Amino acid sequence: MKDTIYLIGFMGAGKSTVARSLEQSCGRKAVEMDECIEEQERMTIPRIFEEKGEEYFRELETGLLKSLSNEKNLVVSCGGGTPLRSCNVEIMKRSGRVIFLTAAPETVYERVKNSHHRPLLEKNKNLAFIEALMEERKERYEAAADYLVSTDGRGAEEICREILERIAEERP
Ligand code: S3P
Repeated sequence: MKDTIYLIGFMGAGKSTVARSLEQSCGRKAVEMDECIEEQERMTIPRIFEEKGEEYFRELETGLLKSLSNEKNLVVSCGGGTPLRSCNVEIMKRSGRVIFLTAAPETVYERVKNSHHRPLLEKNKNLAFIEALMEERKERYEAAADYLVSTDGRGAEEICREILERIAEERP
């Protein structure tokens, strides 16, 4: 059953906020992949990157996605790098709809500049790096997505409404 909603997009695109809002508005259970991994490993994401390496973290993401795909009616806030692996995209597409939340690099910078839980940005928290990494990933995000939804200058409720409308329009 393709009934889970997977939210993908760059760090700071608003995936977690929109997932929580969708949980409230339509009763789906929200799952935050980064949080699940931290609980499972009993370690923060920065520590996992530091001690075990990024590849280990990417394996955890794939394992988690596999188990989430057996559940029903979730809204999953994916990690920013989740759609970079084609096996992850296959799992998401098989079990749900994939929504790419887009945001301008300036918006992302404003949203992430004061946080310290993203190892990839920690030493690179500047607009030029964000722009370059976003450009590098854009094609893969777009290829994974069923829908693109902009988050620039919009609140979570409005974004949720658009997501739910897009899904409702599919049904005859
Ligand atoms: C990552 C994004 C992070 C987290 C990890 C790697 C990425 O998640 O999974 O730091 O590669 O873009 P958020 O997008 O929730 O910040």
